[in-house]
Amino acid sequence: MKKIGMILALLLTFVACSGKQDSTKQSSGEKKVYKIGTDVIFAPFEFEKDGKYVGIDIEILDAIAKVEGFEYTLHPMNFNGLIPAISSNQLDGAIAGMTITDERKEVLDFSEGYYESGISAVVSAKNDKIKSVEDFKGKTFAVKKGTTGSLYAEDHQKEFGSQIRYFDDSPSMFQEVANGNADITFEDYPVIAYKLSLEKEPTLKIVGDKLSTAHFGFAVKKGQNQELLQKFNSGLKKIKESGEYDKILNNYK
Ligand code: ARG
Repeated sequence: MKKIGMILALLLTFVACSGKQDSTKQSSGEKKVYKIGTDVIFAPFEFEKDGKYVGIDIEILDAIAKVEGFEYTLHPMNFNGLIPAISSNQLDGAIAGMTITDERKEVLDFSEGYYESGISAVVSAKNDKIKSVEDFKGKTFAVKKGTTGSLYAEDHQKEFGSQIRYFDDSPSMFQEVANGNADITFEDYPVIAYKLSLEKEPTLKIVGDKLSTAHFGFAVKKGQNQELLQKFNSGLKKIKESGEYDKILNNYK
């Protein structure tokens, strides 16, 4: 009986350790291991490659953790789940191409902006009727829940008399537009530009000018984990000075 128990315990340890990046960074002694949330379907900022999480955000976080000497575990989830998870203390912070907005600042504290972005309107590559905002009237929008793209759609829904369809991740909303089930989606410019640059025959295209300009920031719960936020800012400065920040960006060009 004892033996079976031991085998079971061993097996359980094995299962617990074989999880992805989540458990590769173990705590050493009493040191705090920060729980960082992200949504890993957002190339080039966070995505899965060969069973590993990679991307600009992932590498920036890792480089900062190294120069500042802190440990963390990554917790992938839908983007829409990040702010609730931070608010309920399930996460210490998040790095997820999250745009710094005044609305979010009511519940979050953000680092310095670490990447400039903004929203672009995206339509099917076959669509030659929608060329700019003037053509948004009566069109159906596909958006990702809880994002600045969905906020744009909601803010302009009345003005354009549009319907909004909500999705959990970018590929699903892209699919909806490529299929013609929705007319327009809104995505961060660097994300859609990266996607289009990888495709030989893109099913989507960007229309018109950028609809906004904003910065991505690392986020913690308002008033909490200030030491983590300071480490992020200080590490960001260091990796910019050392040239590592530029090196990371170059990996995704
Ligand atoms: N930048 C947008 C926002 O903050 C979208 C971010 C989506 N990020 C992600 N990892 N899915 O609302």
